[in-house]
Amino acid sequence: MKNKDFAALWSQNLMSNYALPSITLVKGKGSIVFDADGKRYVDMLGGIATNILGHSHSAVVSAVTRQIKTLSHVSNFYSHPNAIELAQLLVRLTGDKQSRVFFAQSGAEVNEAAIKLSRKTGRTRIVAMTGSFHGRTMGSLSLTGQNSKRTSFVPLLKNVKHVPFGDVKKAKRAINSRTAMVIVEPIMGEAGVIVPPLNYLKELRQACTKNGALLVIDAVQTGIGRTGQWFGYEHSGIKPDVITVAKGLGAGLPLAAMIAVGKTSQLFEPGDHGSTFGGNPVTTAASVAAIKWIEKNKILIKCKADFRFLVSNVSSISGVSEVRGAGLLVGIALQKNISSEVAAALQAKGFLVNAANPNTIRIAPALNVSKKELNQFVKTFKEVMSDVN
Ligand SMILES: Cc1ncc(COP(=O)(O)O)c(C=O)c1O
Repeated sequence: MKNKDFAALWSQNLMSNYALPSITLVKGKGSIVFDADGKRYVDMLGGIATNILGHSHSAVVSAVTRQIKTLSHVSNFYSHPNAIELAQLLVRLTGDKQSRVFFAQSGAEVNEAAIKLSRKTGRTRIVAMTGSFHGRTMGSLSLTGQNSKRTSFVPLLKNVKHVPFGDVKKAKRAINSRTAMVIVEPIMGEAGVIVPPLNYLKELRQACTKNGALLVIDAVQTGIGRTGQWFGYEHSGIKPDVITVAKGLGAGLPLAAMIAVGKTSQLFEPGDHGSTFGGNPVTTAASVAAIKWIEKNKILIKCKADFRFLVSNVSSISGVSEVRGAGLLVGIALQKNISSEVAAALQAKGFLVNAANPNTIRIAPALNVSKKELNQFVKTFKEVMSDVN
C-alpha cells in the first residue's frame, strides 16, 4: 500500500481531529524514516521532541525486548524493579533526595496530576501563561493559554488566570496568597520555541515562595536532555516544587512523570491519584535504557554544541530573522509568514520539520542526530529558503 491508499483509509476510519496526514511513515532507524512510497526522510522533528534517541535504538530495543519477554504489566497493587530504578534516576536528576515520582502516560495527564497535587495545599487558584501549551484534557486545557484550542470547550476550570509569558510584573501582580500553583514552560515549545528573559524563572520562584504557591515546571517538551539540561530550567538555578515530563521520557513509548520536589512530595496520600498503566515495566525499561545511554555518551554536552552549530549556520541564511531555543529544541524564525511553504518544501526534499506558527519552523530531532545529518539539513534549508524567497 502507498501513501495515498493509507490517506484514504485514514479518512474512512479515523476521526477528523487532526489534519489529514500527507504521508504514512512505516519504518525508521536513528533519525532516518521511510514513508509508504519508499521515500527517505531525515526526521528533524523526532515525533515532536519524543524520539529522544531516534527510531529503533539498540539500547532501547534490547531493554524493551528483554522486558516484554519477562513481564508485561503489573497493577499498582504491586511494585516492580524498572519503575523503582527510573524513579531513582529521576530523583537523582532533580538533585533533591526528597523528590518523589508519580508515573502516567502523557503530558496532559501529569499536568492534571499537578493540578490535583496543588489542590492539596487547600487553595484552588492557578496562574498560567498566555500562549502556553499544557495539554488538551479539560484540566490541562484550562492551563493551556491558547484561545483557539479552548473556545469550543468552555466552561473549563475556573480560577485559572493567564498572564503574558515572560512578563514578570504581570505575573507578580497575579500571584497572591490564594494562588495554589503557577505553571510555566522553561521554553514555550508549541507556541514556536519562545525563550523567556534570563531571570524570569528566578523571579517567578521568588513570587511563589513569597506567597506559598507551588511553582510547576512543565518540562514535557524541554525535558530529558532536550535543551542540553535534564529538565530545561536548571540554568536559572531555581528549585521548582513540581516538574512534569513526558515526550522524551519514554524514548518513543508512552510514559510521563510528575516529580514533586522537596516537601511537596508529601502532599499526596494513598488513594489520592492513580493510573493503570503508569510506570509500566516495558515503558520504564525503555526510559532507564535511554537515560543511561544519554548519560554515558555525554549527550547533554553534544546538544549544547549542536545548538551553537545551528545558530551559527542557520542565522545567516537569507530570509531567517532569528534562531532561538536551547540544545535541540530550536525555532527558526522567518522574516515572512511562509513556514508552511518552507516545511512542505523541506518535506519534498526529504526533511521532516514543523511549522510551529506562521513564521517559525520548529525542529526537535533525536538527541543523537549526527553532525552529517545536521549539515545536510542546513544545506537543504538554505536551498529551500533561496527557492521560496
Ligand atoms: C509543554 C507541553 N506540555 C504538555 C503537553 C501535552 O502532552 P501530551 O500531548 O503528551 O498530553 C505538550 C505537548 O505538546 C507540551 O509541549
